[in-house]
Amino acid sequence: MSIPPEVLARAESLRQALHHHNYRYYVLDDPEIPDAEYDRLMRELEALEAEYPELVTPDSPTQRVGGEPLAAFAEVEHRVPMLSLENALDESELRAFDRRVRERLGRELVDYLAEPKFDGLAISLTYETGRLVQAATRGDGRRGEDVTAQVRTIRSVPLRLLGEGWPALIEVRGEVVLPRAGFESLNARAREEGGKTFANPRNAAAGSLRQLDPRVTATRPLEMLCYGFGLVEGGRLAETQGGTLALLRAWGLRTSSHLRVVHGAEGAIAYHREIGALRDRLDYDIDGVVLKVDALADQERLGFVSRAPRWAVAYKFPPQEEITRVLDIQVQVGRTGVLTPVARLEPVQVAGVTVTNATLHNEDEVRRKDVHVGDSVIVRRAGDVIPQIMGVIAERRPPDVRPFVMPSLCPVCGSEVVRAEGEVASRCSGGLYCPAQRKETLCHFASRRAMDIEGLGEKLVDQLVERDLVRTPADLYALDEDTLAGLERMGGKSAANLVEALARSRATTLPRFLYALGIPQVGEATAQSLAQHFGTLEAIMSATPATLTEVPDVGPVVAAEVHAFFRQPHNREVIDGLRVAGVAWPEVDRPPVERQPLAGKTFVITGTLSRPRDAIKDDLLTLGAKVAGSVSKKTDYLIAGSDAGSKLEKARALGVPVLDEDALARLVGG
Ligand code: IVH
Repeated sequence: MSIPPEVLARAESLRQALHHHNYRYYVLDDPEIPDAEYDRLMRELEALEAEYPELVTPDSPTQRVGGEPLAAFAEVEHRVPMLSLENALDESELRAFDRRVRERLGRELVDYLAEPKFDGLAISLTYETGRLVQAATRGDGRRGEDVTAQVRTIRSVPLRLLGEGWPALIEVRGEVVLPRAGFESLNARAREEGGKTFANPRNAAAGSLRQLDPRVTATRPLEMLCYGFGLVEGGRLAETQGGTLALLRAWGLRTSSHLRVVHGAEGAIAYHREIGALRDRLDYDIDGVVLKVDALADQERLGFVSRAPRWAVAYKFPPQEEITRVLDIQVQVGRTGVLTPVARLEPVQVAGVTVTNATLHNEDEVRRKDVHVGDSVIVRRAGDVIPQIMGVIAERRPPDVRPFVMPSLCPVCGSEVVRAEGEVASRCSGGLYCPAQRKETLCHFASRRAMDIEGLGEKLVDQLVERDLVRTPADLYALDEDTLAGLERMGGKSAANLVEALARSRATTLPRFLYALGIPQVGEATAQSLAQHFGTLEAIMSATPATLTEVPDVGPVVAAEVHAFFRQPHNREVIDGLRVAGVAWPEVDRPPVERQPLAGKTFVITGTLSRPRDAIKDDLLTLGAKVAGSVSKKTDYLIAGSDAGSKLEKARALGVPVLDEDALARLVGG
């Protein structure tokens, strides 16, 4: 099948546009078009390539992730070796480096190209006639591994060079890094799933690149920052290091945004200080600055000693990891009642800041890392992230270490601590009472689908708690207009409105009340099921875990949480207080089956209806139905008002019966 010329032209122009916008977004950090437009262009190209498979070229923007997992990495020989750098650990070592350079060149003052030293994994990219043909790790400097398929998934690596004037063959050298945010979320996910965490972003970047399956690499937000070149054939670069990097940038490769030409040792020292002050605010880890003699001719004259150039030096920062001792492991209770073990450390300077605490996340993490009180540990502090314990130095363990034990009672309020099966978090079960959870509890209690106390938002809750006007939800109902009017951003009118909203909220329903209590794992649907099954709050409060699991959708985890919650005397007191304050709901006995005509049916509601959707939802729930958010094969009915859109289309496509409000009324016999 021959490809029509207009299709060829369109595909090429889409490719160019996508390469360009990719560059704006991933290299310059300065997109010109919204993401949705980029996606649209990508989809158009994908559609063309699907229709005409001969159109697909290896450097098409659609071809970043492709191919099957590799069996092993192939070996690659670097034609120009990848060298290492000499270190300067302080000002005097930096001055000594500068002196040696000046003496060899016979110069008074030398200009250096200065840039951050990225803490990642060195990679060499080979471009032939502007196409990326190979990516390799540094390995031992002479031989590395072929990671082309993996590196192709990195968005800041162009598959074809932009602009013009690139040599016929060029090896571009740079560092692949994982930004801190990506590292944190990768580890957070691993911790949740009980998997292995990475010690630092550099290990995570290396681990992500050394995935035999490039599809795994593609899920990691890696970036590549380029700082130099290896072999160059069939073309010329600039006269200086800085000029060369400007060319690389123009060809679509990402370089540091902190490049600068500095004069002599003084300029280098000032630059080091400046970048050091920025260090915590950068998106990725750096471990120093690199200074390179800027004139390439001078670099050539200086040459190399063993494995490092004489024309460059790594002027290091204090390390982000240090060793210290664990003095104690205490537990902190968060806003949601989660207990977090925190190590109290012998104070230690880490990258310029004194660290005295480090989070240990949860009980499993303490076990996995095998941290005991008395151990020597490696702490890491990077950016604004809370310091972390990376591991224990086993050889230094004294004989009298003490293991960590998760307390069985909340250190803040004395309620029982519950760790549900299959969960990593341990939680305080004193939800309504625990001072650590006050703000969160009150905000949830007041929220629209809970007690619906209009006008009681986060800011107000903060003030009420901070001034100790409210400790538990029951205290809300004792607030009067005068007290409220005295708060910030509260006039007499809004105070009166809030008192009225509080009064209105007293009349509620059992499911809403249950949901408002904020029992872990108990969302609206579960609250509804519990109310329906037991009929009264008293019955739920005295239920055993075994009887709780008889409720549809309630498994052992939910049952354990509900049971633990109501077992806490403090929670019971608050509930009593709420009832005394007048919070009430129509007492329904266990609704007989004939009053649940919609039991087992799943509804979805869409479009504009005569009443708020929530009201219709409440009615349906009371009649035993389930209400879902999206239409699927499991949907029994779609209730559609006017202007219904995609849900209606989907229901029709799946043959789901569609009801208007009249039809619904007939269905329930109303
Ligand atoms: S220049 C011929 N510049 O540091 C010298 N290296 O300790 C080539 N690195 O393996 C290195 N940031 O991967 C240079 N801005 C930077 C760098 C940098 C990180 C790494 C590089 C090398 C190691 C040497």
